[in-house]
Amino acid sequence: MPAITRVCFVCLGNICRSPTAEAVMSHRLGVTDAGVHVEVESAGTGDWHVGHPPDGRAREEAARHGVAMGGVARQFTVDDFDRFDLVLAMDASNLEALRRIAPTGEAAGKVHLLREYDPEAHGDLDVPDPYFGGARGFAEVFDMVDRSVTGLIAHIGSSQPGA
Ligand code: 4NP
Repeated sequence: MPAITRVCFVCLGNICRSPTAEAVMSHRLGVTDAGVHVEVESAGTGDWHVGHPPDGRAREEAARHGVAMGGVARQFTVDDFDRFDLVLAMDASNLEALRRIAPTGEAAGKVHLLREYDPEAHGDLDVPDPYFGGARGFAEVFDMVDRSVTGLIAHIGSSQPGA
């Protein structure tokens, strides 16, 4: 397995789910010395929120867990397939949108679902879109992302020789 050193999390708007995943992953890598070296970013398949900060509800939920969220939304581009080793979609619709614009089979092969790394997913691999719901949806998103990131870090660690 080639070493994974750059990961991009992708949702629809890049203001709720994928910036949460980016923030949780960065936080974890900062507080634990797992010997894993990876750059993380996030992006959206849509362009409606480009330039916007993360949704206040997502920031509040992250803050409750001691995780700071920042950054501004951007749209995933075809060039990003060259920049990342792993592109992690939040749900099946994001996955399909990414595979549709992938220029090569190799690029399409970089796209997976984040919850493939969630030990409690039990076959449901979507992180549901919380945008039109209440605070509870954001809490569920955080927990799914948090569990998945644990599995993801272990997977990346095993891809890095000597890590
Ligand atoms: P996200 O959530 O994909 O997790 O950032 C959404 C944000 C905005 C919209 C949909 C989902 N929207 O329709 O504007």
